[in-house]
Amino acid sequence: MATTTSNGRDRYSTVAIILHWLIAALIITNLVLAKLAEGASGSARSSLMGPHMAIGISVLFFSIIMVLWRITHPRPPLPAELAGWERVLSKIVHVLFYILIIAAPLAGWLLVSSHGGSKGIDFFGLFTVPDLPVSADKQGHELIDTVHKNLGGAFIYLIALHVLGALKHQFIDKMPYFHRMWPG
Ligand code: HEM
Ligand code: HEM
Repeated sequence: MATTTSNGRDRYSTVAIILHWLIAALIITNLVLAKLAEGASGSARSSLMGPHMAIGISVLFFSIIMVLWRITHPRPPLPAELAGWERVLSKIVHVLFYILIIAAPLAGWLLVSSHGGSKGIDFFGLFTVPDLPVSADKQGHELIDTVHKNLGGAFIYLIALHVLGALKHQFIDKMPYFHRMWPG
């Protein structure tokens, strides 16, 4: 449930805040690992892609919880000063984020599962996440590969837009904004 204070300084619930920052940190780590793996090969690449896949599976897990939490817990009302176009743009960015945080890791999981010879995803040596029951020919596999890379890459643009919006509200419009997504 969103917490509303009497002076109108609304903020997200602690659960939503923890999920937001946990997922954001995991995604940014995964983007860095993917970028580093791009130029690597052999065991160096495996030591980057192992954590990439395990972290990606964690993103999917926490994102499902975040979506369920969001469906059952409405967001705190937006500051009254926000212009109409800003409300619409922030809604679009948030909806795209909710789609991406599920679709990008799911596409990664499909990618690995559709690769003949996969033995599941090693989750930091703790257990093995089974493959999804899919099979794909070479063309299908390449298509999933392109989809996964593009969904992953789309995060960079969306994060940039999201952070710019938050900075604008906080520092140019001078409205208290960051505290909405910060425990206090
Ligand atoms: C991959 C990284 C990130 C993802 C996936 C993400 C996702 C989201 C989503 C989905 C919401 C809307 C929550 C809702 O209303 O249901 C949100 C809100 C918010 N995020 Fe992020 N975020 C990320 C990174 C960041 C970063 C780096 C900042 C720092 C500037 C940030 C600051 C905020 C703030 C202040 C809000 C509240 C906005 C509002 O109430 O309108 N986020 N984020
Ligand atoms: C939020 C989670 C994820 C993000 C943001 C993400 C992002 C990315 C990006 C940007 C690339 C492209 C790197 C390049 O250009 O070479 C990539 C590659 C890859 N990802 Fe992910 N990924 C995520 C989750 C996953 C998951 C869950 C798996 C598998 C279980 C996975 C498996 C792979 C594999 C195998 C590649 C290499 C593809 C290739 O080189 O052909 N990813 N990922």
